[in-house]
Amino acid sequence: MIKVRNLVKTFGTFVAVRGISFEVREGEIFAFLGPNGAGKTTTIKMLTTLLKPTSGSVELDGLDPAASPNEARKRFGIVFQDPSVDDELTAYENLDFHGVLYKVPRKVRAERIERLLKLFDLWERRDSPVKQFSGGMRRRLEIARGLLHTPKILFLDEPTLGLDPQTRNQLWTHVRQLNEAERVTVFLTTHIMEEADRVAHRVAIIDHGRIVAQGSPAEIKSSTGSQTLEEAFLALTGETIREEEATGLDQMRRMSRLWRGRRA
Ligand SMILES: Nc1ncnc2c1ncn2[C@@H]1O[C@H](COP(=O)(O)OP(=O)(O)O)[C@@H](O)[C@H]1O
Ligand SMILES: [Mg+2]
Repeated sequence: MIKVRNLVKTFGTFVAVRGISFEVREGEIFAFLGPNGAGKTTTIKMLTTLLKPTSGSVELDGLDPAASPNEARKRFGIVFQDPSVDDELTAYENLDFHGVLYKVPRKVRAERIERLLKLFDLWERRDSPVKQFSGGMRRRLEIARGLLHTPKILFLDEPTLGLDPQTRNQLWTHVRQLNEAERVTVFLTTHIMEEADRVAHRVAIIDHGRIVAQGSPAEIKSSTGSQTLEEAFLALTGETIREEEATGLDQMRRMSRLWRGRRA
């Protein structure tokens, strides 16, 4: 369903993606796994017509997204790292609006919205404004929206970012259910090794713009003699997993700890 050959992206003199190759089969959940700054979002953008590759080739369901962007866009749905549902609209209205943009005919739209809201446990809340939703509900709504035009591939860029562990688990359960119910191919990114281990049929581990391993989680673990993907990552790169870029809040907490330590 996805074929990538020697894909490269440079920003000025900086090489963000260094000639990666991989294939994703139809119906598969494929995880693109790697620490912050590894090149995951850059790769997703090249696969989804948002960034032009510097070199290399991409094929989505037999199409080159750079040559036929409009045709390619009909084949996939995408959920970005940053939230993008409209707070003032209800869950139903958000989906309806998106369906109009994608020219889904009215009758099909109504059926599809009902099916997806039910699949994602949001049907009872369809008439509530999204501003009343929890983080997990919003994420589920975004994923439902990405599926409205019945794409063959769903791209999810760090869908569990900012969610608590319980909500993350729930989200992965929904993704698995949807993969089975709709037979949609899922390409997701995460920096949490354990999540990929649990949800993905196959993974590619990316570090500093290079794929350092790919295969089923079991294959990767056994090839490195590791118990977990996290251990495998360590064995493959010789590096510890880099911390997430500190947010403003983290920095403030760190400073406040330092400051309290000094006073004590
Ligand atoms: N538009 C850009 N201009 C310059 N550098 C960029 C740009 N986008 C991403 N990068 C750099 O490319 C690298 C990979 O970024 P990204 O693909 O966002 O990583 P990830 O999603 O794996 O965290 C990072 O070092 C990032 O700073
Ligand atoms: Mg990213």
